[in-house]
Amino acid sequence: MTADDKQTKTARPDGWLERWTRLPGLARALFDEPAAGFGAWARTTAGAVCMLVAVQVITGVLLAFYYVPSAESAHATVAYMEKVVPAGAWMRALHHYGSQWLTLFLVLHLAQGFWRASYRRRPVGWLASVLLLALVMAGGATGYSLPWDARAFFSTRVAEGIAGGLPLVGDALHHWLLGGTEISTMTVSRFFAVHAFANPALIVLVIAARLFIFREPRTKEEGRASSWEGWQQEQFARQAIVAGAVFLALALYALKYHAPLGPAASDAEMGYLPRPGAQFLWLFQTLKYLPGPVASLFAAVVPGLILVGLALLPFLDARQWRRTSSYKPRKASAVLFSLALLLIVTMTAVAYIGDARDPNVRAQLERQSAEEAAFRAEPFEPQRPAAPAPSTPQANATPSPAASVPSPDSPPAAYIKQCANCHGSHGQGAKPFPKLLGVGSKPRRTVEDIIGLLNDPVAYGLEPPMKSFATKLTDQEKREIAEWVVILKKK
Ligand code: HEC
Repeated sequence: MTADDKQTKTARPDGWLERWTRLPGLARALFDEPAAGFGAWARTTAGAVCMLVAVQVITGVLLAFYYVPSAESAHATVAYMEKVVPAGAWMRALHHYGSQWLTLFLVLHLAQGFWRASYRRRPVGWLASVLLLALVMAGGATGYSLPWDARAFFSTRVAEGIAGGLPLVGDALHHWLLGGTEISTMTVSRFFAVHAFANPALIVLVIAARLFIFREPRTKEEGRASSWEGWQQEQFARQAIVAGAVFLALALYALKYHAPLGPAASDAEMGYLPRPGAQFLWLFQTLKYLPGPVASLFAAVVPGLILVGLALLPFLDARQWRRTSSYKPRKASAVLFSLALLLIVTMTAVAYIGDARDPNVRAQLERQSAEEAAFRAEPFEPQRPAAPAPSTPQANATPSPAASVPSPDSPPAAYIKQCANCHGSHGQGAKPFPKLLGVGSKPRRTVEDIIGLLNDPVAYGLEPPMKSFATKLTDQEKREIAEWVVILKKK
């Protein structure tokens, strides 16, 4: 390798690093031109990024020791980790906040590289960073569903809605994402496979390609490479110091703040307000201003456009790769980059402020965090296998009464999905929508009538937002719901 040849000429004869490792050659591939003072310290984001990737890998493997990706067990195993495993809660918090910090440091890394126009001189490093950012965001998004608590379930719902709302590919993507037509165990195991296998493999691939396969185009400075030796070592030290400081800060932060974990998805109440991780808040906030179909498109297209735009930067300036190394980004690029950054920062701020200002939202979020705190304070309850089946043949033969006769306490699944948002999980109503308790004793509200009004609410004098469910529910589901609604007694 030519880099090695050059290395032997320039390295001090006694340098063990040079003799036993390829690190000095790598360092040359990694580092840009020398700088001093603040400039050199500002360029230590790469060290922090490497450290944070390592933290994600290590804590991720430790979490995988305990985690079981299934709708039945995921939540219990995460709760076990959180409440029983020594330092388990800290591991989870490191992994949870680490992923957000990693996103932040990658953005900082790109920003500092951008302002120095390093994408012109170091296109490989730049592209690798953009790809890493995309993969880290994907990792954050898939990881969010894994604990399978209310937060995970409702966020998956949001993702499901976004995917399903896309034109053309919507249905296929929705089906693929969920592993079927409904959120189920298949969804959890699918997210886990992407999160724990596909995503990290791609991350390793990107890093390996950056270090061992591609090389940066030669610039003028490389000719004078020998004068860098001292600077490189100093820069390694700076990187290590910054990475160490960031790790310390993360470790303390993760000790103080738990990773969120609420009650299991199956215990979740309707009206739960999902909030995505901090790195997605800006997107979540922007979507609120857009109508459904546009929102889906926006959610998929805008982050994609930003990433593709970043990835294309070096190619737009291709001529600059040669010996002329410029240290300033183009004006047009600078404006676009600043606008994207501004959008993200503003929307994140608006999201936090909006939640803090709206009294209803604040009350609901406070209720949710109180629930989470209560859940956290409970001792861990091991999952018991389902009660053993009764052994007498006679008992086996009689179907359990709960399965066939509707009871006010067990609403049909289709009701929970389609109606509970407005009419409450047990027909108690949710302001401003009416309750259904006692509806069965009103005129024109027999089982057949309710099936009829679900097909054609207008014919029954009902006004929007009570809309037709003619095509949204199967006949079987309509009947089940109607039979359940009529037994609801006034309280
Ligand atoms: C978007 C909110 C919303 C959803 C979802 C919704 N409803 Fe309604 N529903 C209403 C509103 C509002 C009314 C009152 C309409 C009126 O009085 O004009 C109503 C009225 C009704 C009534 C008549 C109540 C009465 O007092 O006579 C029934 C029965 C009913 N809904 C059943 C259902 C069922 C079953 C579902 C699910 C398949 C459902 N609704 C889904 C909002 C909703």
